[in-house]
Amino acid sequence: MTLAFALDPVVDPALRDGILDLWTDVTNAGGAVGFVAPVTRDEIRPELAKQLVTLAAGDSRLLVGHDAEGRVAATAFLTFNTHRLRTHWLWVYTVMVHPGHQGKGYGRDLMAAVADAARGLDGIEAIRLGCRGGLGLEDFYGSCGYKEVGRVPGAIRVGPGDDRDDIMMLLPLH
Ligand SMILES: CC(C)(COP(=O)(O)OP(=O)(O)OC[C@H]1O[C@@H](n2cnc3c(N)ncnc32)[C@H](O)[C@@H]1OP(=O)(O)O)[C@@H](O)C(=O)NCCC(=O)NCCS
Repeated sequence: MTLAFALDPVVDPALRDGILDLWTDVTNAGGAVGFVAPVTRDEIRPELAKQLVTLAAGDSRLLVGHDAEGRVAATAFLTFNTHRLRTHWLWVYTVMVHPGHQGKGYGRDLMAAVADAARGLDGIEAIRLGCRGGLGLEDFYGSCGYKEVGRVPGAIRVGPGDDRDDIMMLLPLH
């Protein structure tokens, strides 16, 4: 059993609500996707809206994994660089698998689908992402073929006295 992945699905209210629920549940389970628990859907909604604007503008692509019940269970945004000297690689943001599905290999399936999608995009030679230190995420991405290429100590303040490294991971596509 795996998820059914779709690149650039139609963004309708059901998909928006599904991503919002996923993002909220993942954050409240301790996930590192731009927020710190506890969060509400209303706090996340503006951030999702920003990402959907980049999608509508053609500046990013969306990969979604649905589970057997048709629920949104995983996402990743592939975001192009706008800087003229950086157009040969892209960023991946908002990598998440629903807490009820974590640990089943779906995260690795998601990152394989991300790499396949990126390989299909003209001129894209590498994928870069940043992750929060202290959660073992560099090991997850390492198991997906990414290499740690840099680390900014304490760049992410998740709470008073709790600064985490910002870890840069890179996957060359050839
Ligand atoms: C990180 C995440 C996407 C991984 O998805 P997943 O479905 O749980 O991962 P998988 O089951 O595919 O695991 C793949 C491998 O990575 C390892 N792994 C997964 N999460 C890990 C973690 N947090 N720390 C260390 N290793 C981890 C697994 O043990 C497995 O290794 P193995 O094959 O040697 O057993 C998922 O846990 C998640 O959504 N977390 C919350 C959101 C988040 O923090 N996202 C990262 C944004 S940068």
